[in-house]
Amino acid sequence: MTTDDAVAEPSDTTSDTDRPDPDLGRKPGPGGGPQLSNVWVYNGRAYDLTDWISKHPGGEFFIGRTKNRDITSIIGSYHRDPARIERMLERFALHRDAVIEDVHPKANAPDFLFKEGFDSWRDTPHYDFSRKDDLLHAVKSRLAQPEMVAKVKRMDRIFDAVALTLFIAYFAVQGLRLFDTSWMPLPAFVLLMVLLRSSLAGVGHYAIHRAQKGWNKIFVNAFDMNYVALSFVTADGHALLHHPHTQSDVDIKKNVFTFMMDLPRLWRIPIHTLHKLGHTVTGMIIRLLEICKLTRQVGIADMYGSWKGGLPHFIGAFGMRFLLLGEMIVFIVAGDFWAWLLQFVATMWVSTFLVVASHDFELETEEIESDTDDWAVNQVEQAYDLKVIGNRYVDCFLSAGLSSHRVHHVVPYQRSGFSNIASENVLREEAAKFGVEWLPPKSFFTDRFPKQVNTYLIAKSRPAQDNQWGFFREHFSPSALKTCGEYTIKGFTGIGTV
Ligand code: HEM
Repeated sequence: MTTDDAVAEPSDTTSDTDRPDPDLGRKPGPGGGPQLSNVWVYNGRAYDLTDWISKHPGGEFFIGRTKNRDITSIIGSYHRDPARIERMLERFALHRDAVIEDVHPKANAPDFLFKEGFDSWRDTPHYDFSRKDDLLHAVKSRLAQPEMVAKVKRMDRIFDAVALTLFIAYFAVQGLRLFDTSWMPLPAFVLLMVLLRSSLAGVGHYAIHRAQKGWNKIFVNAFDMNYVALSFVTADGHALLHHPHTQSDVDIKKNVFTFMMDLPRLWRIPIHTLHKLGHTVTGMIIRLLEICKLTRQVGIADMYGSWKGGLPHFIGAFGMRFLLLGEMIVFIVAGDFWAWLLQFVATMWVSTFLVVASHDFELETEEIESDTDDWAVNQVEQAYDLKVIGNRYVDCFLSAGLSSHRVHHVVPYQRSGFSNIASENVLREEAAKFGVEWLPPKSFFTDRFPKQVNTYLIAKSRPAQDNQWGFFREHFSPSALKTCGEYTIKGFTGIGTV
């Protein structure tokens, strides 16, 4: 990695939050919060993209959400031809270097998602995307060949047709169960719901990576169908923080799944299940209302260009929450609550493990070797391909897009898992020229799942590890019980969780 001194002084690019938080020289803004300006940072220079928010072909959301962030890696990775974007950016140049006040310390996201002491100005990794001889340029130039462009387009169309079939099957399976339980016996119902909900979350995952325009603003919410995430905030955390900055301290995805590690190990499954039930019943609706309030404070124009741009996001997000809650109510009224609950618990846990299966989230940032300054090489090395049943085309749905995960990370703008699979030979061949070892996909059942069980289920709680508490104190101390209570309440209020 290379450091742009203008941006990241005094850091090298390896995030190091163990360091005591030095005085980075931030001046307090009005009300004691950070002092910020209308600035986006690219390669250490300041730009004002305010007028571009509602014009961006990739949708208003991406530009609005990245104000006061360093967008260098985003520009480099999300566009087929970043050199063209760089030329366009000149229209918005402020003709000065970026300064610390241009960057929000916590990337304009909630503090609780980041490690203590994190500051975006210092801790955002910086890569050089201008080198024409790097892996990303090699891959993109092969993908730009007309036969590859046509193939990728065809694969996207097939993916969309399969996605539509899955949506129809999802409503049909629930309809059959509600119409007459003997038409959809309990084991078949639960299994099909786990498969369909996980797959539809996979569809939602790809929608998050597409331009946030038109109907796609609604489809992104399919990501919520497995009860794991709230697409409305994940679109940011996943597409804009996790992808460009994988496995660094900006990558909040790894922190999200370790919250449950504060719970004593025996209470972890029941309390986390209750927490997620709380999300479904009330928590995420309250969270969305909180986001509405914040959006009003920040100003809709700053987030989405206009109400017209923003409204479909909110309609889609509330619509999905009411769908998930409405299904539960319908099953209660039909006297079949236990079937609903069983599919809820099974889907939520299977999907949680699938979602964290494709990166070494068990490891601390410091343990992850990263000695390359080539962004795409780093992406290939930090992601696994995942095998669930062994058929890539099925697995890309089941694993929410992770069966061809390395391609997905190098070209995150690709629109579907099928186009990732079609592009895999190109990445493998080009990566070999850069001396990058191409490891076989990891099996979810025999490789990742046992490791995750160790890390997420049977490991001692974080406080017990830190304070060397025994089993009894871990589970029955007042502070452990308080943590359990607070975690449950957070689920139902949605505040302080994702
Ligand atoms: C700041 C964060 C940004 C993100 C996350 C982002 C993301 C995206 C995405 C996902 C697309 C759609 C790609 C597709 O449908 O295949 C797109 C398209 C586009 N964006 Fe951005 N963009 C950002 C900033 C910018 C900026 C600052 C400019 C120019 C000043 C720009 C110019 C374009 C153009 C021209 C397209 C259409 C052509 C293409 O895909 O390259 N974007 N962007």
